[in-house]
Amino acid sequence: MSDAPPGALFFGAADRNKQPIADVLTGVLPSAGTVVELASGGGQHAAYMSGRFPHLTWQPTEPEAARRASIEAWRQHVNNPNLAAPLELDVQQPWPIDVADAIYACNLLHVSARSASSAVLSASARVLRVGAPLCIYGPFKRHGAFTTPSNAAFDVTVRGWHPSYGIRDLDELIVEAQGHDLHIDRIEEMPANNFLVVWRRGR
Ligand SMILES: C[S@@+](CC[C@H](N)C(=O)[O-])C[C@H]1O[C@@H](n2cnc3c(N)ncnc32)[C@H](O)[C@@H]1O
Repeated sequence: MSDAPPGALFFGAADRNKQPIADVLTGVLPSAGTVVELASGGGQHAAYMSGRFPHLTWQPTEPEAARRASIEAWRQHVNNPNLAAPLELDVQQPWPIDVADAIYACNLLHVSARSASSAVLSASARVLRVGAPLCIYGPFKRHGAFTTPSNAAFDVTVRGWHPSYGIRDLDELIVEAQGHDLHIDRIEEMPANNFLVVWRRGR
């Protein structure tokens, strides 16, 4: 059920996946520092995660102004002191971030161009501290194949939203990430045929 405050967006998927994601992130995120969230959308995860991880500063970012307004409405609502005001960040433009102790993105890579996935990898490698995690949640192909018929159908759906969208091949991204000195730490199978993938920056 929606507990969204006035002016805030609410998405059922973000509500359903927030707890299982946070449960995995508990064993991944650092004990201090700033988590930069990419593509924060309406801000539900920023509101929730900042409560689950009060020892971390949670920095939401989002390119769309209307969504940043929703993030701000959630921020005022939860009033968590460690939740920062949303920043405008398009992953394919210069990032307004110099350093991060962790980076998190949920359901971004399949609803953006393939070049956005490359931008996430290259920019993350630049701003993450040595050993810090890049945590990406969403549906992926494995070795070029859809993991389920429902994800194959979902791929058709998202390509209908925009021809540049599409479910990415995790194994292709793993090879690309290695070129940026980002190395797989864990690949967690999540509900509803999603994965939570954690890379860590090398030296
Ligand atoms: C499916 S929504 C997911 C939102 C949120 N992470 C969640 O799980 O509810 C995808 C988000 O990606 C954002 N997005 C799309 N292209 C982007 C880009 N190039 N850089 C950053 N964010 C982008 C959209 O504005 C949208 O908020």
